[in-house]
Amino acid sequence: MGNSDKAKWIAWPAASVSMRYGLALVSVAVAAGLTQLFLYFHLPLAFNAFALSAIAMTFWFGGTKPGILAAVLSALVRSYVFDPEINSISRVLYDLVFLVFALLMTGVTRARDELEVRVAERTAELTRANEDLSREIGERKRAEESLRRSEAYLAEAQRVTRTGSWVWEVAGGDAVHLSEEWYRIYGFDPEQGAPSWEQRLQRIHPEDRAKWQEEIDRAIRETSDYEAGFRILLPDGAVKHISTVGHPVLNASGNLFQFVGSSTDITQRKQAEEALREAQADLARISRVTRMGELTASLAHEVNQPIAAAITDANTCLRWLTREEPDLGEAREAASRVVKDAARASEIINHIRSLFKKGPSERELVNVNEIIRGMIDLLRSEATRYSISMRAELSEDLPRILGDRVQLQQVLMNLMINGIEAMKDSDGPRDLVIRSQGAEEDGLMVTVRDTGVGLPPKQADQIFASFFTTKPGGTGMGLRISRSIVESHGGRLWAAANSPRGASFHLTLPSTHE
Ligand SMILES: Nc1ncnc2c1ncn2[C@@H]1O[C@H](COP(=O)(O)OP(=O)(O)OP(=O)(O)O)[C@@H](O)[C@H]1O
Ligand SMILES: [Mg+2]
Repeated sequence: MGNSDKAKWIAWPAASVSMRYGLALVSVAVAAGLTQLFLYFHLPLAFNAFALSAIAMTFWFGGTKPGILAAVLSALVRSYVFDPEINSISRVLYDLVFLVFALLMTGVTRARDELEVRVAERTAELTRANEDLSREIGERKRAEESLRRSEAYLAEAQRVTRTGSWVWEVAGGDAVHLSEEWYRIYGFDPEQGAPSWEQRLQRIHPEDRAKWQEEIDRAIRETSDYEAGFRILLPDGAVKHISTVGHPVLNASGNLFQFVGSSTDITQRKQAEEALREAQADLARISRVTRMGELTASLAHEVNQPIAAAITDANTCLRWLTREEPDLGEAREAASRVVKDAARASEIINHIRSLFKKGPSERELVNVNEIIRGMIDLLRSEATRYSISMRAELSEDLPRILGDRVQLQQVLMNLMINGIEAMKDSDGPRDLVIRSQGAEEDGLMVTVRDTGVGLPPKQADQIFASFFTTKPGGTGMGLRISRSIVESHGGRLWAAANSPRGASFHLTLPSTHE
């Protein structure tokens, strides 16, 4: 039975009072009519059977009160229409039959009504449960949809940042999770399932494998985070630079069982850094060449000195030889002075050539005091031109430094020229002091101190930035380049104001930095 039919059926007793009581009248009337019809055809008196049917129908469809009315009407019709002569005992018995039947039907209709109510309640409950279920399904669908969306965003973000995520188990090294981007970076096919530990290890560049393995072993031993930079070698021979970070995951009992982390393909960044480094090196060389151009005049003067001395000594030598009695001892001495003078001139020229040289950085053991003395020689005439006194305070027990001689010469030249430029227009004393001393952990510190105009006010922290200059013809690269050279040697370069005037530049270098 459909829901709407049932609703009609249950609602019908309540539908109309007149119809319900009308049903009592009509059904008893029909029972009486049918009985008359039976009598007409000489059939037995069947009123009781019809009346009981009428009472039952009225109870069922009309409810309890119309049912009772039908029972009363039936008793009356039977007594007064069909059995008027019956004795009172029989009448009472017949009435009793109707009464019992009415009571029975009252019980039946009540039971039916209760059943209907229960069915309605159950139906309502089921409907509610059904609605809850559809709501839940809808919510789950929405949650799944948003999960799918965020997974898609995550995958997209991984693609854009070239970062793959992973989880692997410490026991056996099996991968529990490898993201799509991880497969792409490492050149594995996701269709073929997660590659084994051994397969993943093989993909790491042979030269970096041991270092990488060492870092992983350490992280496992110490249950700690790890961070590693290494190269991977793909089957087609391509090499990628990878930066990876991992974090230990503990199980419920606090033991290490997994590592979770990410691997980023930093090949492009590496290439950009390399290009930048090359550009900086070129720029440094250009600045060196420019500076050297400016210094050519004073250098000519420097070279001229030993050459002039050599000519004088050669003449002396000739004189000793062309005497009546040549003095070979004096001549030999004069000749060896010529050799020294020539060696000095060639040293100066070699030195200049080394400053112009282009080529990769060459690390060797250098004596920083020697570099300082060389630079003082080189800049002496420049300083004299501006009445600047240059003084060295060099500590004799200075450690040797593993470094690039030409680059370190350039740093000192930049600092000293800056000092000279800061003093050349200033009044008062003009002193440039270059001091070297030992520093902590076997390193050393060099200080270049002047009595010039001092660091530009309010911009003291900017002087190391590229292209910052307060000079009309300056490039603003001197300090920038100097700092990157010192830092590439593992040291530091910084500035401080002097009291009452001038500025100091300090640089530290560790003794055996590679
Ligand atoms: N010894 C110093 N005393 C005062 N100011 C200084 C000193 N050294 C550097 N500065 C300041 O720092 C700025 C940057 O110096 P940097 O050597 O980088 O470039 P520059 O000297 O201006 O130009 P370049 O070295 O390319 O000729 C200078 O313009 C100057 O303002
Ligand atoms: Mg400068």
